Amino acid sequence: MEIRSFLLRSIYLVLILGLAESFDFHEKELETEESLLRMYDRWRGHHQVEQRSQERFNVFKYNARHVHKTNKMNKPYKLELNHFANMTSHEFLSTYANSKVSHLRALKGDDDTTQQGKIYANVTDLPIRIDWRKLNAVTPAKNQGACGSCWAFAAVTAVEGINAIRTGKLISLSEQQLMDCDSGVYNNACEGGLAEPAFIFIKKHGGIASDESYPYTGKKEACDKAKYGHHSVTLDGQEFLDFTEEGLMKGVAHQPVSSAMEPGGDFHLYKSGVYTGPCSTANRGHAVAVVGYDETPEGLKYWIVKNSWSDKWGDKGFMLLERGIADKDGRCGIAAEGIIPLKDHYTPNKEL
Ligand SMILES: *[C@@H]1O[C@H](CO)[C@@H](O)[C@H](O)[C@H]1NC(C)=O
Ligand SMILES: *[C@@H]1O[C@H](CO)[C@@H](O)[C@H](O)[C@H]1NC(C)=O
Repeated sequence: MEIRSFLLRSIYLVLILGLAESFDFHEKELETEESLLRMYDRWRGHHQVEQRSQERFNVFKYNARHVHKTNKMNKPYKLELNHFANMTSHEFLSTYANSKVSHLRALKGDDDTTQQGKIYANVTDLPIRIDWRKLNAVTPAKNQGACGSCWAFAAVTAVEGINAIRTGKLISLSEQQLMDCDSGVYNNACEGGLAEPAFIFIKKHGGIASDESYPYTGKKEACDKAKYGHHSVTLDGQEFLDFTEEGLMKGVAHQPVSSAMEPGGDFHLYKSGVYTGPCSTANRGHAVAVVGYDETPEGLKYWIVKNSWSDKWGDKGFMLLERGIADKDGRCGIAAEGIIPLKDHYTPNKEL
């Protein structure tokens, strides 16, 4: 009796831990079609995926071999068969990373009044490391779902950050309000957008609502105008950082920054470590926030990037991205889109 309940409890524990853990596999499982199929079913069980098809199995096999090959190389980052392992990189990027940031910025041009690189221009003594997560200025990673709304998530992370820094209160804010209400030429809900008009919108409409009062649905809805100016975090404006790694570092030393990058081929299966893998800098389609920087004990410098692909992706939803490279745009173009929201010490929020 005793032993039986002990066993049951152990099995239960293994199940719970198993669900929370990443999906691991043994090299042997890659050897035959049968063992690969069993592994696919095991993966489906792990991620609670009911669908099962030859085509998805093909994709899974391809990803499994790629993860295995990559992890055997001596790279500073690791991949895993996460919940996106039944998608090709192309399917994944066009579904989850399609904010078209550099495309929209090019269309919009520079003829606006947002200044660049001014407020932190004279800063010299930058800290050697900073992690705004440890300073209670970053909410847990959220999930944009199958919607190109990463621009709203990146912008909101920067606003949550500066609000926490100015007021001492970390409040989760509403991406949905930006998607529903800030729609125009350059911001199009699930079809992509930019942080700059989002910050302008927040200032103009008396703030941004909390997540709690205006929750995320993952698709464009009618704008609830009654929520303008209520339970809102206000802003005083926005400024581009200098589009260099130094400019980005100056910004991140002071607050979480909204930026964008080109998510490379290995992004969708990224697990941990400093990403040094494939990506270009030209087509920065995916908006992310930069919430810190540091370096490994071996001296490999990195940015701490907050993503919006849920806490199941990467390291609880975050990724480390190589920093300190020769290209001034930074790895994957991360330094070429930095923008910060401005909030004065004395600008009050509304009914918070
Ligand atoms: C792929 O996996 C996800 C879980 O991450 C699941 O929701 C989806 O239904 C799967 N799609 C197919 C076609 O198997
Ligand atoms: C930075 O220094 C320049 C030159 O001394 C000065 O004109 C400018 O106002 C300073 N900027 C800030 C934000 O303090």
